[in-house]
Amino acid sequence: MLSYINGSLHVENVSLRSVANSVCTPVYVYSSSAFASRYHEFEVELTDLDYLICYAMKANSNQAILKLLANLGAGFDAVSGGEIARALSVGVQGEKIVFSGVGKTHKEMKAALKAGVRHINVESEVELARLNEVAISMGKVAPVAVRVNPDIDAKTHSKIATGKAENKFGVPKARIREVYQQAAAMSGIQIVGLDIHIGSQLTELAPYQSAFRVVRDLVLILRADGHEITRLDLGGGLGISYGNECNPPLTPAEYCAAIREHMVGLDCEIEIEPGRYIAGCSGVLLTEVIYIKQGQGRSFIVVDAAMNDLIRPAMYDAWHKITPITEPNAHQTQYEYDIVGPVCESSDTFAVKRSLPLIEQGNLLVVEAAGAYGAVMASEYNTRPMVPEVLVKQDNFAVIRERPTIDEIINRDKVPAWL
Ligand code: LLP
Repeated sequence: MLSYINGSLHVENVSLRSVANSVCTPVYVYSSSAFASRYHEFEVELTDLDYLICYAMKANSNQAILKLLANLGAGFDAVSGGEIARALSVGVQGEKIVFSGVGKTHKEMKAALKAGVRHINVESEVELARLNEVAISMGKVAPVAVRVNPDIDAKTHSKIATGKAENKFGVPKARIREVYQQAAAMSGIQIVGLDIHIGSQLTELAPYQSAFRVVRDLVLILRADGHEITRLDLGGGLGISYGNECNPPLTPAEYCAAIREHMVGLDCEIEIEPGRYIAGCSGVLLTEVIYIKQGQGRSFIVVDAAMNDLIRPAMYDAWHKITPITEPNAHQTQYEYDIVGPVCESSDTFAVKRSLPLIEQGNLLVVEAAGAYGAVMASEYNTRPMVPEVLVKQDNFAVIRERPTIDEIINRDKVPAWL
């Protein structure tokens, strides 16, 4: 989705310099064709199965992105009442929304049942009992899959691993039969399937294979216990390349082959919930260099984007490739820089000791692979306005979330009359 045209970086046919001139920086810039083609990569691998790709909207839930994917036939994995409302607002039918999450409130359950969601992934006995009560009070029956915690190490960053016994997610494998027994006896619950999700940014196949084996074994056991299991939600987590890996990460082809191998003959609908794989490489964060600052034995590039706009490096020590928008020439001398934002803490660092050609004040840079867990995790820390978002389609672009003014931000606070 990124290419140099006449020496200047473009997203599709739109020059990033023109985006910066018109919207100012920092700004997220997404490629609609990248979103579509990443989505399509799963589709082609799953064609002969009964499947639904439920895009994990937490990765990037801008309504324009949801609409783009909905137009392609995507389903959605939502984890809050807010996300369900976002999907509904762009015309997604309830039957295409899966409701996941470890702490659904009474109010969110009601909203999900009112919307007629496809199914609700239940994560504990207490949640099951609560959902039963809510459904009965509404005269409805909640379609349910129970999320199993398989105690599998996803071999990813500990903050985004979810399948180990010590993680808060799902019902321990040893208690699954009991929970399905309870569910079967509840008049407000209809069992439709089984759910699993072991973590995010997975780059190895083995943890997936172990997880899929657990799912397969459980389907057979639960069916023998008399439950009707017709739908398997296999979660998300397929990793992407951020540009610093030694080995290439998994491909959708390898991932889907493992699904096919383990789910063969089960005669179940298959759902997957990719977020990062679809959104991550479909967007960049565009930022301008404010200063080049000389420290003690280090050069700092101080940019106008900060940890409040993209928190991944600060939060997960994530490595993102950073690229100048002016095409470097192959023979240019490389310099070592730390690339930092203006926020008042040292964690506001995008890169350490990064080799780049000579960078000067006013240059534009992009932080790559920032389309997932970028804008959605942004905040207004330091009263820095929420970062805007732009969507490119071929020669055109549209602002899909505007930058608020400082007045809009401060007027949201209310100072009580008694102060
Ligand atoms: N399904 C469930 C139940 C999930 O919890 C998640 C992600 C996904 C699907 C999508 O996973 P993906 O395909 O995007 O890996 N903020 C972190 C990532 C948190 C992921 C949370 N759950 C980051 O920036 O790395």
